[in-house]
Amino acid sequence: MVRHEKLLEVQDLQKNYGKKDNLTKALRGISFDALSGEFLGIMGASGSGKTTLLNCIATIIKPTSGRVLLNGKNISAFDSKDLAEYRGSRIGYLFQDFGLLDNLTGQENILLPLSIHGMDFAKANAQLNELADFLEITDILDKFPSQMSGGQQQRVAAARSLISDPDIVLADEPTGALDTRSAKKLMNKLESINKSSKRTILMVTHDPNAASFCSRILFIQDGIIFHELRRKQGEAREKFYERILQLLAQLGGGSANVL
Ligand SMILES: Nc1ncnc2c1ncn2[C@@H]1O[C@H](COP(=O)(O)OP(=O)(O)O)[C@@H](O)[C@H]1O
Ligand SMILES: [Mg+2]
Repeated sequence: MVRHEKLLEVQDLQKNYGKKDNLTKALRGISFDALSGEFLGIMGASGSGKTTLLNCIATIIKPTSGRVLLNGKNISAFDSKDLAEYRGSRIGYLFQDFGLLDNLTGQENILLPLSIHGMDFAKANAQLNELADFLEITDILDKFPSQMSGGQQQRVAAARSLISDPDIVLADEPTGALDTRSAKKLMNKLESINKSSKRTILMVTHDPNAASFCSRILFIQDGIIFHELRRKQGEAREKFYERILQLLAQLGGGSANVL
């Protein structure tokens, strides 16, 4: 069954950095919805505002104006208890550079969000085993990040982002630090997490290959969303990838303007 509820609503989000001569308008009024179960991509060049947007949604930074709603609730109106719950268990965050702690093992890194937010050990272990099996990291759970490949580190980070069963996973260029093969493996995993458990994913990227795994892509430039591409029902990923490349070529100045 396809669901169409608006899980995430972003309304006229603006973010300025600095003041006067140093003013940067990183977001200039971003509005979109992410539907429940959607794998939504946001594509844009370096500096277009992707990380700023995700960080506003994740409450890592405060927007200058505008609103973000999760399940119809305005997150900027949350009290500290709601905010802790939101950060700890309603959203999962996947960083470009993995964001693992060097002196913790894979398993400890994955369980860290739960140990901060009070964990049910039996449930956590069952979830850990299931996620590790699916993400093919069971063998490396006792290793430290420095003993893992980039691809393994990002799959450990993916497990960490999913362990608290969040409503939405926010991914900031998750393939940006990976080689082609590891990137494809990660994207295949994210795609099946989205498909099989209807987990909503919002991913920003400048990589057309990674974006081709999404069901819909919004294009951002200079803090504004200016275009949308939808993957057609049953459209092969390779075909969608071709359409993304075509669009990038059509946009003035070829892909140089966007990527
Ligand atoms: N902390 C900051 N202080 C000042 N300017 C920033 C800061 N973070 C980002 N910017 C600026 O905001 C714009 C958008 O940056 P960012 O959101 O990181 O884009 P992207 O993730 O798409 O590369 C850029 O012009 C960047 O230089
Ligand atoms: Mg960025």
